[in-house]
Amino acid sequence: MTAPYSHTNHFHNTEQSNDIGATVDALFSIDDCATAYSTIRQWPAYQATPLISMTDIAAAAGVNTVYYKDESSRFGLGSFKALGGSYAIECLSQDSSRGDLVVCTATDGNHGRAVAWGASLCGAECHVFIHANVSEARAQAIALLGAVIHRVEGNYDDSIAACNEQAALHGWQIVSDTSWEGYRDIPKMIMAGYSVMTFEMMDQLDGEIPSHVILQAGCGAMAGALTDPVWHHWGARLPTIIMVESDRSDCVYQSLKRDEIHLVNIVEETVMAGLSCGEVSLLAWPLIQKGASHVVTIPDAGVGPMVRWLANPSDGERPSVIGGECSASGLIALLAIQHDPALAHDMGIVSDAGSGDRTRAIPTLSCMTTSSQARYERGYELTPAERSDQLGMIVLHLMYDRDEFRCILPTRR
Ligand SMILES: Cc1ncc(COP(=O)(O)O)c(C=O)c1O
Repeated sequence: MTAPYSHTNHFHNTEQSNDIGATVDALFSIDDCATAYSTIRQWPAYQATPLISMTDIAAAAGVNTVYYKDESSRFGLGSFKALGGSYAIECLSQDSSRGDLVVCTATDGNHGRAVAWGASLCGAECHVFIHANVSEARAQAIALLGAVIHRVEGNYDDSIAACNEQAALHGWQIVSDTSWEGYRDIPKMIMAGYSVMTFEMMDQLDGEIPSHVILQAGCGAMAGALTDPVWHHWGARLPTIIMVESDRSDCVYQSLKRDEIHLVNIVEETVMAGLSCGEVSLLAWPLIQKGASHVVTIPDAGVGPMVRWLANPSDGERPSVIGGECSASGLIALLAIQHDPALAHDMGIVSDAGSGDRTRAIPTLSCMTTSSQARYERGYELTPAERSDQLGMIVLHLMYDRDEFRCILPTRR
């Protein structure tokens, strides 16, 4: 069962601490997270996303419980990113000193849609910069939300450069989810929006304390944002936090190993496109450095099988989960870890057999991404035996295409 699921590298971070520490707390405060939760809960479209017990995957991993935070229904936008960009724009629009708000961002997918959606809610003008390889379907989905699309020659970095140039020229406000020297306020708002997932998860767990939390990382904004309330809530009984990233863009692994932010040159793109980041966000770094006990990097090989497994439960007990490539990464990591007894032991993930009352609860995140749609259209990594799975997915994706990201869950549940 675990054969396609392997890891490439692992680092045990001895800098991790169960005490959040004043410095980290001052950088990204729990009050900001709590304010985001109370604000976003008031939005008319708000609904908590489900925390699904992945019974078949828990059985395969030999652990008691595996929970999976399924973000595919978030605001009809199909991604946790909808919490971040839109919340930042809500915060910006409350600031009357700014005058007429015009926002801009560079994107290759979900973040741009979140920003465009947030701008449409607040009546702000929005400019979204996309590079040559972003599909026309994604561009149209963003344009339908009222944003002006700027198609730029070149790659993602070129779209960032064009966005920055136009922002400087016209006085537009850049809304980026990663932070750098001198640019922290907006990424902080975005991360506070992401942290809503942790509050929901805590309500859904209803007092149960997970032993481990697995979080996938690109620039680490999402992982850092979720770590903060976990720390505050569970303190001394902090679950072991494990970060997962692609071995083609292992900036968290390389940075934790050196104990400082390290820039990774991405030579080959991973299919987990949302994780393809070469540098940890400045704001997320201290949260990761002090919060993560472990980081594992994974190859692309397990992604196709896991995305199909998510969609096709092997025990008929849990609902089908439509997740993209990035969303599969936490579960791939769990099975890879369990495949390596020494690693599983180091992380304290032991098989439940004979362990009596030990509860193993490992939430990971799911998100419906347009990149997964593109991959399925190409039918990647399919063996003949897997064709029937692909058919199911294609039907779902056609619906997804037609109704602009809104109809997957209502038709499935
Ligand atoms: C499902 C999923 N998880 C994780 C990430 C990475 O988030 P971050 O760059 O904040 O680490 C993405 C980015 O698109 C994503 O789509």
